[in-house]
Amino acid sequence: MTGLLAAAAVLTAPRWLPARVVALRRRVFEGVNGDHAITFPNAEFGPDRFLEVYGHPAANGRSRGAGLSDLFWYWLSPGPEVHQEHLEEGPRYDDAARTTRALLAGPADALSAAAARCAGRVLDERAGGRATLVRLRDLMAPVWAEYFYELVFGEPCPRAARDLIVGHADDVASALKCTGLRHPARRARLTRYLARRVAAGDVRRPLPASLSPAERVHYLQGTLFTTGVVQMSEAMAHLLLVLAQHPEVAARLAADPDDDRYFAHVLDETFRLYPLFGIAHRVTTGDIALDERTTLPAGSVLCFSYPDYHASGHDRPEVFDPDRWDRVPARAAHHIPFGVAANRPCPAWRLSPLALRAATGEVLRRVTLHSTAGHTRSLPNRGPCLLVRVGEPLPPRRLAVLGALLRLRDRWEDVWRSVVQLVLGTVMVLHARRLRLAERYFDTRDDRGCPVPHRPPHTQETPE
Ligand code: HEM
Repeated sequence: MTGLLAAAAVLTAPRWLPARVVALRRRVFEGVNGDHAITFPNAEFGPDRFLEVYGHPAANGRSRGAGLSDLFWYWLSPGPEVHQEHLEEGPRYDDAARTTRALLAGPADALSAAAARCAGRVLDERAGGRATLVRLRDLMAPVWAEYFYELVFGEPCPRAARDLIVGHADDVASALKCTGLRHPARRARLTRYLARRVAAGDVRRPLPASLSPAERVHYLQGTLFTTGVVQMSEAMAHLLLVLAQHPEVAARLAADPDDDRYFAHVLDETFRLYPLFGIAHRVTTGDIALDERTTLPAGSVLCFSYPDYHASGHDRPEVFDPDRWDRVPARAAHHIPFGVAANRPCPAWRLSPLALRAATGEVLRRVTLHSTAGHTRSLPNRGPCLLVRVGEPLPPRRLAVLGALLRLRDRWEDVWRSVVQLVLGTVMVLHARRLRLAERYFDTRDDRGCPVPHRPPHTQETPE
């Protein structure tokens, strides 16, 4: 009897284990971080108050004073203290933000053409056969590595540089999702490469003058070659997986590539269901009075839940339905895929849709997409997908068999991976707590990055 029960538990594991492990991991994270964070929207302050709190002038602290920062700095090393996302307000932040805007600026046609060129090159190299099984995030990472290299250096990306950028971005994304540990030596290789290029004056725009030479390299690495490459690869993986699972939508996009409006609706619906940020957090730098009974004191950690906000105010929010955007204009809906204008929105809000659209066009011109894999917001499976060359369809029976095998593999991988994520996540949380990168930085520096003289010197983390 016990044997039978054990066998049943093992056989049904794909159905119950991953969700339980995810819940357990969340509890470990919350417990170990020790922040008394408040998440919005919540039962008391719902979606109608969400933008007001998020956009409040006192909701402007980024890193100082949140235990969570130690973990994010750990994941985003090296140089998290000068990543635009983590800089506190002040001249150094303004300088970094100005540089990012300059690097991401350009005529729409040129930004789109570069994305199409990079996507076309990588697809011809990686998906040339009649049928190719890929992980969409891995397929797309080289595209965006080449793209941001071109934006930064103004020349085509050599293969060796692309490998360094992809290796680095993959290392960060895997650590963030707890599917792999960090490899500081791998990241340091890209730092050394970028340091040489920066020293040679190869960057197309001036780098932030208020940062030291070493900090400029870390700014570039973190903002463009980590966030830029990771976010675009993830966005593209979500978009293509949605198209693989909604062939009618893919067929409509492929049939009318000039239909800007429909593409915008598909992208909005993809980001509504799969926002790239699960939670964005802020540390309050002053009191925020919510009503006569509730005031959030300075130093509170506020967490803004994108999936909860995006699900509110829509009919059947769980259903993927691009046509809903014909009925609800994006501006009127609870929809903030690139953050809120009043509080440090994404600097790539203009570039990203243009580049994603151009790259998607190149994909749909070459292949049809097929996937039976699970699709979740954090996408730890990296989007398993079968690409079949346009004009050479597989017989339906063969496609069905491949789909069934893909589903089986994906469900069992989920079981194994969720256990790996629990173990590696716990290891990294504990390691981050020991290193206390953010806490030690703010112990020894002010918000402008200047050493505080009466404190002991800051100990730099050395690559392992
Ligand atoms: C489709 C792609 C992207 C999406 C959906 C996206 C989404 C977001 C969101 C929601 C935020 C605000 C988070 C918050 O309030 O804390 C943000 C911030 C940011 N994003 Fe993006 N992002 C994308 C692509 C990019 C790219 C390509 C880059 C860089 C090249 C980038 C760089 C940044 C930076 C630096 C910030 C912090 C801004 C600041 O604090 O001033 N993002 N992004």
